[in-house]
Amino acid sequence: MRSLFRKKSITQLIHQSQQRTLERTLSAIDLTMLGIGAVIGTGIFVLTGVVAAESAGPALIISFILSGIACALAAFCYAEFASTVPISGSVYTYTYATLGELFAFLIGWDLILEYLIAIAAVATGWSGYFQTLLSGFGIHFPKELSSAPGAGEGGIINLPAVIIIFLITALLSRGMKESKRINNIMVVIKLAVIVAFIIAGIFYVKPDNWTPFAPFGFEGIITGAATVFFAYIGFDAVATAAEEVKKPQRDIPIGIIASLAICTALYMIVSLILTGMVPYTQLNVADPVSFALQFVGQNTIAGLISVGAITGITTVLLVMVYAQVRVSFSMSRDGLLPKKLSKVHPKFKTPYLNTWITGFIAAALAGFIDLTTLAHLVNIGTLAAFTLVSIAVIVLRKTHPTLKRAFKVPFVPVLPLISTILCILLMTSLPAVTWKAFIIWIVIGLIIYFTYSRKHSQLNK
Ligand code: ALA
Repeated sequence: MRSLFRKKSITQLIHQSQQRTLERTLSAIDLTMLGIGAVIGTGIFVLTGVVAAESAGPALIISFILSGIACALAAFCYAEFASTVPISGSVYTYTYATLGELFAFLIGWDLILEYLIAIAAVATGWSGYFQTLLSGFGIHFPKELSSAPGAGEGGIINLPAVIIIFLITALLSRGMKESKRINNIMVVIKLAVIVAFIIAGIFYVKPDNWTPFAPFGFEGIITGAATVFFAYIGFDAVATAAEEVKKPQRDIPIGIIASLAICTALYMIVSLILTGMVPYTQLNVADPVSFALQFVGQNTIAGLISVGAITGITTVLLVMVYAQVRVSFSMSRDGLLPKKLSKVHPKFKTPYLNTWITGFIAAALAGFIDLTTLAHLVNIGTLAAFTLVSIAVIVLRKTHPTLKRAFKVPFVPVLPLISTILCILLMTSLPAVTWKAFIIWIVIGLIIYFTYSRKHSQLNK
């Protein structure tokens, strides 16, 4: 019984972080770019429309603020941990040191779910935008090859989604230096496109469009917040990069907090302008941001926005694949998953095999399963991770009060407690089917833990 809650010692972890297997190439700016790369994507480019039309109305900005607060509190907790234990497993490792092996395994397993489903869901969104762009040039994908069988559109495989995942896998398996360069360029394009939207759109805002401000009441705002939460997911991926950062203790907190702050500010401005340009009732479209510009007759900029959205969504995929590989890498190194997953390529210095396995599984999910309904699973998985990291901060303050922390969450335990409550509140507003799928995933995890991981754990030795 005791072995279920055995913990990795903090000294052991700090020692492990100093052994160099992966190459340290990332700076604070790279991490901020990585964070923005993971965060801004389908959430703002796709989901805002439906949420404005169906749940929040012009109060969309309030939904974004509420979700942003929940994320900011969790971000502080991530930052404190990353500045204390800079190890690539993120919450998985933090939990291993505070709540013990069983919880750690389950949260690692949960993170794998979050990232894998996110990759597949986001690739499906990418495929949609890409096909719209091609059709602008008169090129049409055969319907058999353009959607998954479950989508009800006569598809056999979503080929564009599969191809983009493989391209990204190939890039990441070659090394972090190349990947980071390409990520940085694409993030700059994505930011430029959003700024272009803001500058072009601001002149077409009609304040009349903001009344009634909250047509669906407070309930609509909360439902909206639970959905747009998806738009913020990704900043947590910064913490998984810990072992590839030059000065992790200082730079990871900067990367997490800066990327979240920039994205929150942009989201608030974009949602205000969007609902000011177009009456909310007309926003129920798949590409609301470029639609708004078409609505006011700015077709050229609208076209540019579509290209920017495709670029932007690509970096989300890049960072999500990266993060999933780093989490399973850490779990494998600890013996909880097969050893092969932590083998590093002698030349590229990346977990080569793990990256390709991740690519294949994600491509299979995106190619053959319709994921729109499963997207909520990403939210529940992330919220579970945020809850645990908040609790873990309080536990670590109690068990290791004197440990050196480069960044500290203010007002402990009040802020982490508020964070825990907010996350649980958002989780409970997700649909029952999401909870069922989540519980099934956890049960599969438990079976793996008790039949494999427990025996093979490094802590047995
Ligand atoms: N935050 C990411 C997006 O909106 C997952 O695409």
